[in-house]
Amino acid sequence: MNTLKWWQKTVVYQIYPKSFQDTTGSGQGDIPGITTKLDYLKTLGVGAVWLTPVYPSPMVDNGYDIADYTGIDPSYGTMADMEKLIAEAKKRDIRIVMDLVYNHSSDQHAWFQESKGSRDNGKADWYIWRDARADGSAPTNWRGIFGGSAWTWCEERQQYYLHTFAAAQPDLNWANPAVRQALYQAANFWLDKGVGGFRIDAITYIRKPDVLQDGPADGKDGMASIHTMTADTPGILDYLREFQQEVFAGRDIFTVAEANGVGPDELKDWVGSQGVFDMLFEFSHMNLNFRDNEVWCYPNQWKLSELKKALSASQAATAADGWYPIFFENHDQPRSVNKFFPEGADPELAAKALGTLLLTLRGTPFIYEGQELGFTNVAWDSIDCYDDISSHGQYEFSLKEGFSPEQALGFVHRFSRDNARTPMQWSDHYEAGFTTGKSWLPVHSDYPRCCVESEAKDEESVLSYYRQLTSLRSTDKIGKVLIYGDYQERLVESEQIYAFRRTLGVQHIDIMVNFTLQEVGFDTAGLQGSKYLAGNYRTPKKGCLRPLEAVIYWNETGR
Ligand code: NOJ
Repeated sequence: MNTLKWWQKTVVYQIYPKSFQDTTGSGQGDIPGITTKLDYLKTLGVGAVWLTPVYPSPMVDNGYDIADYTGIDPSYGTMADMEKLIAEAKKRDIRIVMDLVYNHSSDQHAWFQESKGSRDNGKADWYIWRDARADGSAPTNWRGIFGGSAWTWCEERQQYYLHTFAAAQPDLNWANPAVRQALYQAANFWLDKGVGGFRIDAITYIRKPDVLQDGPADGKDGMASIHTMTADTPGILDYLREFQQEVFAGRDIFTVAEANGVGPDELKDWVGSQGVFDMLFEFSHMNLNFRDNEVWCYPNQWKLSELKKALSASQAATAADGWYPIFFENHDQPRSVNKFFPEGADPELAAKALGTLLLTLRGTPFIYEGQELGFTNVAWDSIDCYDDISSHGQYEFSLKEGFSPEQALGFVHRFSRDNARTPMQWSDHYEAGFTTGKSWLPVHSDYPRCCVESEAKDEESVLSYYRQLTSLRSTDKIGKVLIYGDYQERLVESEQIYAFRRTLGVQHIDIMVNFTLQEVGFDTAGLQGSKYLAGNYRTPKKGCLRPLEAVIYWNETGR
């Protein structure tokens, strides 16, 4: 058995700081709020906390538009608060993981402010500038990921600049070695402060093709998605190898990069002994919802076999070398209960069913705040109620494609990132205990039932189930199989049940989840000699799985 590193044996918890815990009454979460909740995280077996960006930012994209890579936004607190969080977390054996947003900065960053001033200043080529076409229009027909052109005109320079996301998020020019060095320096600054690793944002976009040219239109607006035109451009790994050498190599930390556009078949180039990161968030299991490029108005009716195929492919790709970050939620996704289960699914059963996969697949589980309580989507009355910039872009795009405002709002209900950004629910008190002021996003109406205080008292709650499974991971024999064991998919053809086995030596654990709202029979022969360990019904029923039932069986002898 190979020895694994600390981050391969732990559970990571993702915090969206703006929505986690407010200590000032401002209605927005802050860093001291996170510090007050470290003991709670400990009860979930968490060994690392990934914070989405807390740097100074105009917050056009809630912090993913960074104006200073080595500061703290005053709305979140001070550098002293951050240092205290790192130290308090360390006392509890929890490491703090920062988000590096290096494809782009904010347009308010001093680098961009200088760059846009003229064509010959010291930072003139720190961003991607191009002349207009002869008719004054943008250099290419690329549509940014948040909608509209990926180019914005700058009066001062009389040129366009490129932005994969919002106009307030200009793309940095990674082809310039000075830019790369400045970014490495900022990352090293945080490592010197004692952070335990990085989640690296939108990494697949950092390298642009040598020639920027029009792509085939993929919508009625005549534009081509910038994702199609630039994601995973050949040569990207050359930059990343340098990044690894200059920042991560030889440190006892982990890196996990967000890599939309990289499939399981390419994982070997990105992670493992030949790779550049420790783990990669690849999205093949998350994007089944869409026909193309995450366009919300063209959802896809996916089948369970496709989900299993995607998960099994990434399990296989990291079986011998590399490591997999298991995730079903993050701050950009609707809640998993709504995303992966049919309408009408019991939210608690569904949350536990998916939690079963999250905590038993091979890899490091990433729990997103609220997932451990069974949070579900919201559906607000008007697009004006939504804060998320991409919800507005997708709404407009849906209208342009010919959908009615009601239909466009329906897509927002289903896919908005605000579904994941409603405040954490701590208690059944005012604003769910999140703030004493007025919360920046409405608290979900289910908070009296779905909150830490109520669920901690209830042995059958989603939270108790998460605690039960995370503590299984730290028990001696069972935990070893869950962490080190191989993965093998079973019942491959089934469109109703996801079943797999984790094996270590003679011991194995069988996991089965019924994704349907019907009872489904199965052959129990494979379970003879196994003991029922856990599940989302009180006791198992012989020979079948009830609606959304998840079961875990332990076999110590292999017989
Ligand atoms: C991916 C992040 O997860 C998302 O929240 C953000 O809007 C974009 N990258 C741009 O940074």
